Amino acid sequence: MTLPRDARIVILTGAGISAESGLRTFRAADGLWEDHRVEDVATPEAFGRNPELVYRFYNERRRSLAAVQLNAAHLALARLEKEWPGELLLVTQNVDDLHDRAGSRNLLHMHGELLKGRCLGCGAVADWPDDMDGHSRCPTCTRGLVRPHIVWFGELPLGLERIYAALECCNLFVAIGTSGHVYPAAGFVEAVGPRARTVELNLEPSRVVDAFQEHRVGRATDLVPALVAELLGGPAF
Ligand code: OAD
Repeated sequence: MTLPRDARIVILTGAGISAESGLRTFRAADGLWEDHRVEDVATPEAFGRNPELVYRFYNERRRSLAAVQLNAAHLALARLEKEWPGELLLVTQNVDDLHDRAGSRNLLHMHGELLKGRCLGCGAVADWPDDMDGHSRCPTCTRGLVRPHIVWFGELPLGLERIYAALECCNLFVAIGTSGHVYPAAGFVEAVGPRARTVELNLEPSRVVDAFQEHRVGRATDLVPALVAELLGGPAF
């Protein structure tokens, strides 16, 4: 694939890009939502009803980050950001920190971040590398209770204004490792401008595959470095 060197690129990633690093996806047979009901751990109501359970769920997921490594797909996207002369925005639904560790900087975590906490009092967001519980207090205002900085079902994803502005004027939109079940992310392909190319990279066709001009089926660690090499006009690394 060749594009003008000033082309604007928006990339959306989902759990599939981190699957080969050892993080579970949500909707596979062994996925996270097989063990846990969304309504028990991923809604504001669940947190109101049983905060200990919600804290425990995210504490376990936060701890699991320490045991995993980024993979070739995360690295390829960081390389693309560094070497692509035009604008590139990486939007991830993932709450892990693997894109950050790979070196992606023009990165938006639309569903929040496991390694951050948010104050229920003053709203400040702070780094939170350790466990969190009902005694966790905000380092900024020192009084407010801290909750996981995660967008739960029924809450508005982060950065939507910036994302839609980028989608409307991008020349290439690529979705990687996302099943197309969760909106608004699943609808981003419909929001891109008329001249944009749209490509899906996934282990299997997603629910919204028909909205893309092109789809490639396979593992992210194969498909993403290959696409990046195509865009940069050199060999895969
Ligand atoms: P899903 O678990 O719904 O989908 C993961 C997708 O990745 C599936 O389509 C898999 O086929 C694909 N996949 C798995 N392994 C892959 C690999 N090695 N290479 C390429 N693709 C692979 O995860 P998401 O679409 O990210 O939201 O889920 C979206 C949101 O639903 C999540 O952000 C989360 C969840 O509920 C919140 O928690 C707010």
